[in-house]
Amino acid sequence: MIDLSTTYLGLPLAHPVVASASPLGRALDDIRRLEDAGAAAVVLPSIYEEEVEAEDAITLALVEQGSWTQPEAGDYFPARYRDTGGLEARLETIRRAREACDIPIIASLNGSAPAGWVEFGSEITQAGASAIELNIYRVPADLTESGEQVEQRWLDTVAAVRAAVALPLAVKLGPWLSSPGHFATRLVDAGADGLVLFNRFYQPDIDLVTLTPKPDLQLSSPYEIRQALLWIALLRDRTTASLAATSGVETHAEVVKYLLAGADVVMTASALLRHGPNHIGVLRDRLAEWIEGRGFSDIGAMRGRLAADRLETTEPLLRAQYADILLSFDRDAS
Ligand SMILES: Cc1cc2nc3c(=O)[nH]c(=O)nc-3n(C[C@H](O)[C@H](O)[C@H](O)COP(=O)(O)O)c2cc1C
Repeated sequence: MIDLSTTYLGLPLAHPVVASASPLGRALDDIRRLEDAGAAAVVLPSIYEEEVEAEDAITLALVEQGSWTQPEAGDYFPARYRDTGGLEARLETIRRAREACDIPIIASLNGSAPAGWVEFGSEITQAGASAIELNIYRVPADLTESGEQVEQRWLDTVAAVRAAVALPLAVKLGPWLSSPGHFATRLVDAGADGLVLFNRFYQPDIDLVTLTPKPDLQLSSPYEIRQALLWIALLRDRTTASLAATSGVETHAEVVKYLLAGADVVMTASALLRHGPNHIGVLRDRLAEWIEGRGFSDIGAMRGRLAADRLETTEPLLRAQYADILLSFDRDAS
């Protein structure tokens, strides 16, 4: 069997296919199922900043009321976060997964402000997480807030988490920035050891019966790899940070493309939700077959071959993004 081993955030992995944060990593049995199915590492579903803040509010309320048995105190905790069993349950899942599994367990934090993480970061470390993935996402609905201010808050958040934990730290960011590459380098300067490109956003639809916004989660399609593919290719030889690709993996073809662009690991969520956890082993095996079939000695021989700095010309990578693609569109062929 061809050697697929890779390193991500300084962690040695048997191969580059990682289970991305999703409900498939929620409970201990789910995580073990992913490991048995062949996942090289598992990113757990995010712990939200609001969860940490809400739990702090409960503790405060209980302390102020002088009682640990006030039933009303539970109301401080919004229902959607109560469903996850609270922070202690999340930490317990990390602890038990650490004991039960051999693969790295990556905890995910979702937040956009520096507060709240310092104490919690050390609890995650003690629980035994191998690394932290920080998902920075918030709709900047305040029209007085500039892009620079939004980015600065994210950088401050990364710096706060970096200061709070010694664990390897990856930052999962979205693509909607004026200069994603520049911001990526600033994230690394702020303390990120790795970048996860790109976060996939879930905007609400409108329900025409109730006339209310309605959540509508659509799983991804392979077409969605293009944005991350471009930026991984552009960043590969210009940063020492680990690069993880996320979005649009359906078959081994997308895994291969991300690796050719220069990804250290490729994450998948939608395909596993669609086909079941065993699909991760299929992706790994087909990847090995592809590498062997193309005559590469190992994964290192093909990784980054299409990174921007290794191409004779970046014209097809950059210019073709727009004009050439539009001008070359063949109506009859489509
Ligand atoms: C049902 C569902 C739940 C998810 N939960 C999380 C989460 O808790 N934290 C996170 O950072 N990303 C979460 N994601 C995003 C995935 O980790 C992944 O980045 C995204 O779906 C793109 O990858 P994919 O095309 O393989 O699905 C979730 C995705 C789905 C479909």
